[in-house]
Amino acid sequence: MSEKISVFGTGYLGATHAACMAELGHMVLGVDVDEAKLSKLNAGEVPFYEPELEEVLQRNIAAGRLRFTSSYEEAADFADVHFIGVGTPQKKGEFAADMKFVDAVIETLAPLLTRPAVIFGKSTVPVGTAERLALRARELAPAGDDVEVAWNPEFLREGFAVKDTLHPDRLVLGVDRNRPGRAEEVARDVYAQLLDEEIPFLVTDLATAELVKASANAFLATKISFINAISEVCEAAGADVTVLADAIGHDARIGRKFLNAGIGFGGGCLPKDIRAFMARAGELGADQALTFLREVDNINMRRRTRMVELARESCGSLLGARVAVLGAAFKPNSDDVRDSPALNVAGQIQLQGAAVSVYDPKAMDNSRALFPTLSYANTALDACEEADVVLVLTEWQEFSKLQPADLDAVVAKKVIIDGRNCLNPSQWRAAGWTYRGLGRP
Ligand code: UDX
Repeated sequence: MSEKISVFGTGYLGATHAACMAELGHMVLGVDVDEAKLSKLNAGEVPFYEPELEEVLQRNIAAGRLRFTSSYEEAADFADVHFIGVGTPQKKGEFAADMKFVDAVIETLAPLLTRPAVIFGKSTVPVGTAERLALRARELAPAGDDVEVAWNPEFLREGFAVKDTLHPDRLVLGVDRNRPGRAEEVARDVYAQLLDEEIPFLVTDLATAELVKASANAFLATKISFINAISEVCEAAGADVTVLADAIGHDARIGRKFLNAGIGFGGGCLPKDIRAFMARAGELGADQALTFLREVDNINMRRRTRMVELARESCGSLLGARVAVLGAAFKPNSDDVRDSPALNVAGQIQLQGAAVSVYDPKAMDNSRALFPTLSYANTALDACEEADVVLVLTEWQEFSKLQPADLDAVVAKKVIIDGRNCLNPSQWRAAGWTYRGLGRP
């Protein structure tokens, strides 16, 4: 059955969720406080780069199933099913997540709910949040106990957001076990098409659902830092971490995914989510359980420093050196530069006196806004002009396909450092280049 749905927040998560719910045939209203974003979305324009999303957005706006507004009154009037997809960034100067955007949705929406409603939280939140919000919503809403809060964590990856929303590995729903309500029934209706595809659907209590998300991200971050720690040992021993990862990855218990060593993880999720998880465990008195995540974070940050050191070694001194940086996004197929290892390395090198020229296929505008003092080139070749060293920091296909002959005549020195282990070392060495990878001889 087609539902009327509102989605609060129109960032990577909310905009994707809104468009994909309309794609499933529901009537959807996206809500945000940012008028500039709303007018773009209403015009069928996605305010960030995400493959496939613009088509889905435009198709559903044209079909009359999707529109965007800043009016909470309109949302409360329109829908009885509400999704929260606003951000939970790291608090300034603390590890904990800042809940002000999530809280604001409840504080503004709940007083307008005069009919029974189900609010599904999707944002990544500290365990215990759903219970707290449910209580607050019941307190504030004229409909009182007829307003339910359930938790439906989102696992989408940027770059695959549409695919991950319409064909997720699993759906998780946390419901209040002490107050049986309609949340599961409504979720089954909203996701009926996905359930028909036999996508696993796990119904849990609220705390478990919140913890599923935090644990999944902690596991992925740990896996990446594990291989990056091994990569440090490989460097010390003269071994090759890429071959090692292939070899251990054949073990089905380990698996090859998320074992790519390099300059580590970044983005708007993993770094802040593992910190918020540690902070929350501490509040709950279980801080010892997650102290290993501090090491996971340390290993990750150390890879950025190591990359700067490798650049310095290759130039002798960074003062006055010309450094080309290929890649600024935190990963390929994204224009997101939040906590991007690539941009962080570029910034550190520049601050140490080098002239850094950055190129990224999609993340130029966001990089300029975050780091206006770096130089930005129009193409990869322009960035490499007269470079003393070329750093590959995001594994865009455009860079992994580069041939030595493309750069031979452009650079000042034939030195390339592969921060994502995405190039073929023997090919570059055979062409007379000095090649260095992370964790590779
Ligand atoms: C992540 C989770 O994957 C997703 O399930 C969750 O909902 C949000 O956080 P995302 O931030 O889009 O998604 O990026 P992801 O693909 O997980 O990559 C995170 C970072 O790890 C990137 O900087 C990437 O370059 C890095 N990474 C990934 C590695 O360094 N090595 C790997 O092997 C894999």
